[in-house]
Amino acid sequence: MIVSEKEYAVECWTGEMSALLAKSPAHAAKLCHEYENVVMVYYIPKKGIEQTKRFKVRPDDVYIISYPKVGTTWLQQIAMLVRLEGDLSFFEGKHIITMVPFLEICTLPDMTAYKDKEEIMSGPTGVEMADAMPTNTPRILKTHVVPRWLPDGLKDNPPAKVLYMARNPKDTAVSGYHFCQLVKPLPTYTWHEFFEEFIADRAFYGSWFEHTLYWWKLRNHPNVLFLKYEDMKQDPRKAVIQIAEFMGKSLPNDIIDRIVEASSFKFMKSNESMNPDVAFNKLVDLTKEKSFMRKGMVGDWKNYFTEDQNHRFDKLYEEKMSGSGLEFGFE
Ligand code: A3P
Repeated sequence: MIVSEKEYAVECWTGEMSALLAKSPAHAAKLCHEYENVVMVYYIPKKGIEQTKRFKVRPDDVYIISYPKVGTTWLQQIAMLVRLEGDLSFFEGKHIITMVPFLEICTLPDMTAYKDKEEIMSGPTGVEMADAMPTNTPRILKTHVVPRWLPDGLKDNPPAKVLYMARNPKDTAVSGYHFCQLVKPLPTYTWHEFFEEFIADRAFYGSWFEHTLYWWKLRNHPNVLFLKYEDMKQDPRKAVIQIAEFMGKSLPNDIIDRIVEASSFKFMKSNESMNPDVAFNKLVDLTKEKSFMRKGMVGDWKNYFTEDQNHRFDKLYEEKMSGSGLEFGFE
């Protein structure tokens, strides 16, 4: 049974409406909560964030870290295929979403059995799932947390490998807007509302700039591989080789080719173990040709940003990014 948006209305409030959320559109604010000055969705509750902060890092872990909607699932797919040396049979009956615990989220191991919000909130967090993994199984884990919520053992000088994914913020914002349209319990912002939330750092997980620049500063750390969505689109084979080398795998050409193919947008979209629509199942609205695997391209922002929005965004981008040396492709 799919319950209405209202029935999802947040139970993870920690008090009265925060000053931060009071600035958001009212219809959106009632579906979100605030944790330490960051807007979050209900299924990423305080419990999950606090467990993530205390999470015990193992040196053989591989972390996939990103701001939401930058191609995280794509990177999950590549990292898992590298670990499996291209063995696709491992995916049978499983899904890439559940193979990689998402630390701070409350989830159900089988979302196709999802019934209601209470059930998901009582489901284990990704941290609980990761803690339950045997110590002799090297883990691949995912998180979107803002830098100050990272596990203490992972901050600034990570002892385990971190694959960080970044994407130009204009396409990231457009993808985020569509994700909210797709996932039923998320607020259905208009594009104009979402744009204002994004530039005011009130989109989920706060500031794209803070997130991206923190990891950019760590890009030369031996345990950090900083990847850009646009580079990966341009040369996916190069990205797969780079990721494999970083993960300590020297793979023959035929396996590299298989990984490139099995992590392509087309392949993932048409595969039940790889398309997140299948794992999210009853949580997503698949009518009107909506899909998690939406366009997977660079430059779609041009279909959404008005001239004025583009001008305002460019000004903000210049202010925040100047002197960082970090550049993105926008088309
Ligand atoms: P769009 O909405 O722009 O299409 P995340 O996994 O971080 O939530 O990111 C989702 C975005 O990555 C979506 O972008 C999705 O289409 C895109 N994506 C997913 N798999 C991809 C792939 N194999 N190649 C390119 N883009 C991919």
